Amino acid sequence: MPDDSPPLIRPARESDMQPAFGVFRLAIMAYIQRQGIALPPSTNEDRQDEAWRLRGPWIEHLWRTSAENWVAESGDGRVVGWAMSVQRGEMLELTHFFVDPDVQAKGLGHGLLARAFPAGRGPHRSIVATYDPAALSLYLRSGVRFVTTVVDFETRPREVRVETDLRFETLAESDAAVDLIAGIEAAVIGNRREVDTRFVLGQRPAWAAFRGDVPVGFAFGHRDELTGPIGALEPRDIPALLAHVENEAARAGAANVYFSTPLANDEAVRYLLGRGYRVDPFLVAILADDLSMRLDRWIHTGLSYIL
Ligand SMILES: CC(C)(COP(=O)(O)OP(=O)(O)OC[C@H]1O[C@@H](n2cnc3c(N)ncnc32)[C@H](O)[C@@H]1OP(=O)(O)O)[C@@H](O)C(=O)NCCC(=O)NCCS
Repeated sequence: MPDDSPPLIRPARESDMQPAFGVFRLAIMAYIQRQGIALPPSTNEDRQDEAWRLRGPWIEHLWRTSAENWVAESGDGRVVGWAMSVQRGEMLELTHFFVDPDVQAKGLGHGLLARAFPAGRGPHRSIVATYDPAALSLYLRSGVRFVTTVVDFETRPREVRVETDLRFETLAESDAAVDLIAGIEAAVIGNRREVDTRFVLGQRPAWAAFRGDVPVGFAFGHRDELTGPIGALEPRDIPALLAHVENEAARAGAANVYFSTPLANDEAVRYLLGRGYRVDPFLVAILADDLSMRLDRWIHTGLSYIL
């Protein structure tokens, strides 16, 4: 006989990682269908192993460095909901929030969010959010407000020349590289997140951009079509950083690259549309309590779990 006692919300355990990922996939695929978005034929999202190959390293990294990590467990012991956040400096960031479509709209999301993104914690708070009505409604009542929409601009990379006085240097995995990037991130998004920077340095190529001897920007290049984060102290340097990443991708023979671009980044939007980049229909929003983030000079971390 099925056990229909209400799900229990409890701290996540190591063994919950794959089941939580399963809930993530079910909920996001149902959301995509509700939105009427057709997945490009090249995506293998219907294959759990392929989806995990791309996302697994990120989920493991965020899981091991999470601030709050909660699951909802049904009466028969299945994970049916998952919410996780990370604390980086003063920023509490919600990274995952998903409930199995079979049990949505019964209050589970509410309970998970209250634990993983508790009111008053931060002091600053941010979320890379889908446009799911239930998610938006819960988020906008949790102390964050709309900052910008984020578009994935996509293209087959082609070599391009952009006039610039910047000099690019490859960044190796080192304390100096982490420090350089963290310094620029602090100026642009308001916080340092060395633990993530170190992780991304192990995942993607990276460059620093110098004007004279002064580091004024950085860029993480493509792997598996994904790029970012990319940040510059001045918006005018964003096109040169984008061009540098696209050129490297073109030379590596990449079939496709995505730049997850805040629409507030007008330099990037004009540059990318001017080059014929396509707008992916899966849009997300940045919600935050702190409107001082300078997203006009920022490209997000590809996969959209963190800023
Ligand atoms: C977002 C999600 C996790 C919420 O889980 P849930 O269990 O359905 O949420 P709950 O039932 O606890 O709460 C939903 C709330 O949204 C409200 N809501 C739902 N649709 C709404 C709408 N169109 N307008 C306003 N409020 C709405 C409900 O009234 C409820 O609020 P209340 O409890 O104060 O009445 C779940 O719907 C989900 O997995 N969605 C798809 C994946 C996704 O996009 N996740 C967000 C990732 S950033």
